[in-house]
Amino acid sequence: MNKLWEVDPEIAQVIEKEKERQEEKLEMIASENTVSEAILIAQGSILTNKYAEGYPGRRYYGGCENVDSAESLAQERAKIVFGAEHVNVQPHSGSQANMAVYFGVLKPGDKVLGLDLRHGGHLTHGSPVNFSGMLYQVISYGLNKETQLIDYEEVEAIALRERPKMIIAGASAYPRKIDFSIFQKIAKKVRAFLMADIAHIAGLIAAKLHPNPMSFCDFVTSTTHKTLRGPRGGMILCKKKYAKIIDKMIFPGIQGGPLMHIIAAKAVCLKEAMSEKFITYQTQIIKNAKILAESLIDYGFKLISGGTDTHLILIDLRNKGLTGAKAEEMLGKAGITVNKNTVPFDTESAFITSGIRLGTPTLTSRGMKEEEMKKVAYLIDEVISSKGEKNVIFKIREEVGNLCKKFPLYN
Ligand SMILES: Cc1ncc(COP(=O)(O)O)c(C=O)c1O
Repeated sequence: MNKLWEVDPEIAQVIEKEKERQEEKLEMIASENTVSEAILIAQGSILTNKYAEGYPGRRYYGGCENVDSAESLAQERAKIVFGAEHVNVQPHSGSQANMAVYFGVLKPGDKVLGLDLRHGGHLTHGSPVNFSGMLYQVISYGLNKETQLIDYEEVEAIALRERPKMIIAGASAYPRKIDFSIFQKIAKKVRAFLMADIAHIAGLIAAKLHPNPMSFCDFVTSTTHKTLRGPRGGMILCKKKYAKIIDKMIFPGIQGGPLMHIIAAKAVCLKEAMSEKFITYQTQIIKNAKILAESLIDYGFKLISGGTDTHLILIDLRNKGLTGAKAEEMLGKAGITVNKNTVPFDTESAFITSGIRLGTPTLTSRGMKEEEMKKVAYLIDEVISSKGEKNVIFKIREEVGNLCKKFPLYN
């Protein structure tokens, strides 16, 4: 850090301030996490200097012997962790992983069936403002109005009627387990490709705490930075028969040189994912989410689907008389970082929303457990009930600071 202060004090200060923000606040954005120091070291390493277009043993540049080892290690580990026949660890992000699958097996104008963004899907599952919605004919399935769960019968009915070329299973804001075997039956019936996007739940799957989609799907895409607790990036897992299509689509199809420092950090993350410690960690993420959900329900919060099986909770705030945007702002002032989120059948826009999404990965990475989750539920309730009253927000901000001090991000 000293060198950075010398060269660029403005950026050094940004990093310092961000460190303070992360240390002193409760980070509850479900898609974020705090990586290990080993991962920070790998991704901040001199591997960033290397160009390595191509794949291990087949590069367009000389001097790739060391980065070849890093990428091969990441590949082998990903195959073991997820039980995959083939993996591509080069996608720069989850969106690019998804794009490579679309471009690999679909033609513009083909039909794709994915979960509606407003019901918990992701932009890349067919939103009109995303490449997926611009290039493909998108049909969406939603959650059942009563159960607030994926309505597999509806998915099947839509698939039979519309005959999509690809079906996407996966979500950004769905708190329950996904049954990939049902999706496989539906996809088989209509001869569609099946892609599972496990960006959010990859860590839970790696720890065998959520069903693994690998044997049911043609393609499994993921990010590496959410529950998996790795560096920012993506990956694609698939059957051997699709290896060439995917590899060619990532490079030279949609990307240039791979980010070798990030790939090395992905390898570290996947090694961490093989440890007993990781299973304990993922188990705690779910325990924490469950106890947080139960405590919030006790405070009168309405949770989508009535609870959670994962790391994520979606709260419908309408009975509290607050929008998601307002709640995000108030909680932010109290030092609790969350994101506003639409709830199924929301009547508010995506900028306002009727809900907020919470996740436990980061708090669990800091070492927080059940007792702290009960406290967090209390803090959230105090803020929401205060309707923004300054004294209450001030008091809770202090309590948040004290709690954070007990659980430093990095020792
Ligand atoms: C389900 C899902 N897929 C894909 C992505 C995209 O990942 P990235 O932000 O790395 O492009 C996300 C990110 O939030 C996601 O939740």
